[in-house]
Amino acid sequence: MLEKIDELKAKVDAFHSDDKEQIEAFRIEYMGAKNGLINNLFKAFREVPADQKKEFGLRLNLLKNAAEEKIKNLKESAESSAESQGSGIDLTLPGEPYNLGSRHPISIVKNEIVSIFNKIGFNISEGPEIEDDWHNFTALNLPEEHPARDMQDTFFIEKDPDVLLRTHTSSVQIRYMENNKPPIRTISPGRVFRNEAISARAHCIFHQIEGLYIDKNVSFADLKQTLLFFVREFFGKDSKIRLRPSYFPFTEPSAEVDVYWGLNSEADYRITKGTGWLEIMGCGMVDPSVLRNVGIDPEVYTGYAFGMGIERIAMLKYQIKDLRMYFENDIRFLDQFQSSLVR
Ligand code: DAH
Repeated sequence: MLEKIDELKAKVDAFHSDDKEQIEAFRIEYMGAKNGLINNLFKAFREVPADQKKEFGLRLNLLKNAAEEKIKNLKESAESSAESQGSGIDLTLPGEPYNLGSRHPISIVKNEIVSIFNKIGFNISEGPEIEDDWHNFTALNLPEEHPARDMQDTFFIEKDPDVLLRTHTSSVQIRYMENNKPPIRTISPGRVFRNEAISARAHCIFHQIEGLYIDKNVSFADLKQTLLFFVREFFGKDSKIRLRPSYFPFTEPSAEVDVYWGLNSEADYRITKGTGWLEIMGCGMVDPSVLRNVGIDPEVYTGYAFGMGIERIAMLKYQIKDLRMYFENDIRFLDQFQSSLVR
């Protein structure tokens, strides 16, 4: 019996293969649960004479460990040589695709609006989001106590009422006119802030684009024609606009601009409140006192200004019904807007 163990041990030690099937056959022959050679020896343990039991058990365990070790090592080296030979992995297959992402709808619309105005000579200007009272209100003809300040719920810094988050991009008009001489043609996109409860139709953060044109002999007709050009570029060449008289402290006269949306579906009736027209921006001729505030002589220069909300324009373009979607960053929402980004 002891010789049998030694004989098997010698065979185990001598065995070598890098073929997975051969190794598996060897495992079954030696270690198989049912009829494996080693297992059979364990079964024969009972018949071993008592004085040999200890030696038998010792050698049998050594044999078993040697066989286990051998199989484990051979399997490992068979696997790694298979890998290095490339079998199992086809390196010519295309890689795992990954998402490049797309532009945010607000950026897409902003870029489109800016590039339309770039075509007709407007440059881009920006101003700070944290503003002072002068640029956001006073210089724009909204002195303290002016009732129109109530139109815009402002975030103030508690300790210093002169520091606030700008409520509109009109503040950039002031900064631009303070630092540049006419002729001025500039467009100012940016983030604005208002202390409003968040709902489908209102948000405390949103985006606007401000436009400003100051030169000699700028008239209301220039304003109207520029806006018509913009709307036709953006919404399509058959678009129509209308200007409704309105009020803004920084323009005189002032108007609100509507674009004709149509009344072709029930939804059109709903979003245009049955009129077919949708308001898209405010505009007007820059008030002479605003020009005076920045040191431009209103006897020499005139100009127009306009301001529009980007979210609102994007809502019209993409039929987005809830403002909050712009800020939730849900990939399923964002993924729908393809821009010129290469995918
Ligand atoms: N600042 C206005 C707002 O936030 C929008 C606006 C209206 C801008 C008329 C203008 C303008 O430049 O002329 O509602």
